[in-house]
Amino acid sequence: MNEALIVDAVRSPIGKRNGTLSHIRGDELSAQVVNALVERNSVDPAEIEDVQWGCVTQIDEQAWNIGRNVSLTAGWPVSVAGTTVDRQCGSSMQTNFNAAAAVASGQLDLVVSGGVEMMSRVPMGSNNGSMSPLVYERYDIVMQGISAEEIAKQWNLSREELDRISYESHQRAARAIDEGRFEKEVVPVEVDVPEEGDGGAPTLTRVRFAVDEAVRRETTLEKMASLQPAFIADGVVTAGNSSQIVDGSAAVLVASEAKASELGLTPRARFVSFGVVGVEPHLMLHGNPEASAKALAKAGLTWDDMDVIEVNEAFASVVAQFNADAGLQERYEAGDVNPNGGGISLGHPLGATGARITATLVSELERRNGRYGLATMCIGFGQAIAAVIERV
Ligand SMILES: CC(C)(COP(=O)(O)OP(=O)(O)OC[C@H]1O[C@@H](n2cnc3c(N)ncnc32)[C@H](O)[C@@H]1OP(=O)(O)O)[C@@H](O)C(=O)NCCC(=O)NCCS
Repeated sequence: MNEALIVDAVRSPIGKRNGTLSHIRGDELSAQVVNALVERNSVDPAEIEDVQWGCVTQIDEQAWNIGRNVSLTAGWPVSVAGTTVDRQCGSSMQTNFNAAAAVASGQLDLVVSGGVEMMSRVPMGSNNGSMSPLVYERYDIVMQGISAEEIAKQWNLSREELDRISYESHQRAARAIDEGRFEKEVVPVEVDVPEEGDGGAPTLTRVRFAVDEAVRRETTLEKMASLQPAFIADGVVTAGNSSQIVDGSAAVLVASEAKASELGLTPRARFVSFGVVGVEPHLMLHGNPEASAKALAKAGLTWDDMDVIEVNEAFASVVAQFNADAGLQERYEAGDVNPNGGGISLGHPLGATGARITATLVSELERRNGRYGLATMCIGFGQAIAAVIERV
């Protein structure tokens, strides 16, 4: 098998709901991200063979195979193919998997893997999905927030614990921004933001957007404790301990060794292994330990080999359940798990998050001079996906 090298991994800053990025389409935002990726690596877009793009709510501006449209919007040659992948919240970790598998098997040599979700413009669920009555007969299908409540109940997680994880997420993300920890991964983007005139038509002002916008650095445990449950009246899951609804895009450049050497590219890391797993659809969000165990087994490595671990903060209960089941509570407290915040503080732009946490993991491994990292994500309706990467 060939090595699947991570040449580089970048992302847009994440925009809060109805914030700065709500004024740009997802294909146009993604085009800026992928152009920044190739420009900073001096890669001619004509060299890219395929764009593998994660996106969950594939309707309206995110429909019609947005992966292909990203490439066309970016002004790349028509020869660059593109596809769109839906593995729900794990979509752009799946595009990593697809890109790495294609490179490892020798089918492709240079692939852009990534994703987008503009949750302000194309709301989650607006594609009006449904399942067969046969599935509804077999499983009690609920929305993610209800599963987050169910996990809190089954794992005996208190509201205080969930709020503490969430408060910590905001503190860690604010520190990461202040210390410039995202500088290697965030590519500033330009957005035409309308400004209301005196009763006239709004004028457009071009804004350079460079810093994650959703982090609530002023939040306190007291404020978080005062929030009402978001999904069930006597529940523990609130707006404060759920991932935020946001806008964003992220991209990873994946190359074979031969292509990297032909183009003079210096890889930052490589994909070592992946793990995917299906779990019970009602509880749905508890598969991270199992997917991680599969990826670790394939790599022949253990948690002790992992210098940094990213678990997607879909909900604080997911993080707590993962830490408990994977035996990582101490490492979470020590800052080895989600050292720079996550979906609760930065936000979780569904289709983009897999590539986003990959970019964050690569940067953090470099900052720590670490070797191996693992990223894992739970997935709507009962799955999980994990990847092990190694700095090279
Ligand atoms: C939980 C959820 C329904 C909350 O939606 P919402 O009520 O619109 O949430 P908001 O983020 O706008 O927060 C509402 C208010 O709560 C308060 N609040 C939220 N987080 C807070 C925090 N950390 N500290 C203090 N106040 C907070 C604020 O007053 C906020 O209003 P503001 O933004 O005007 O200041 C929504 O965020 C959600 O569905 N998240 C999960 C998404 C999801 O399922 N993703 C897939 C995962 S599998």
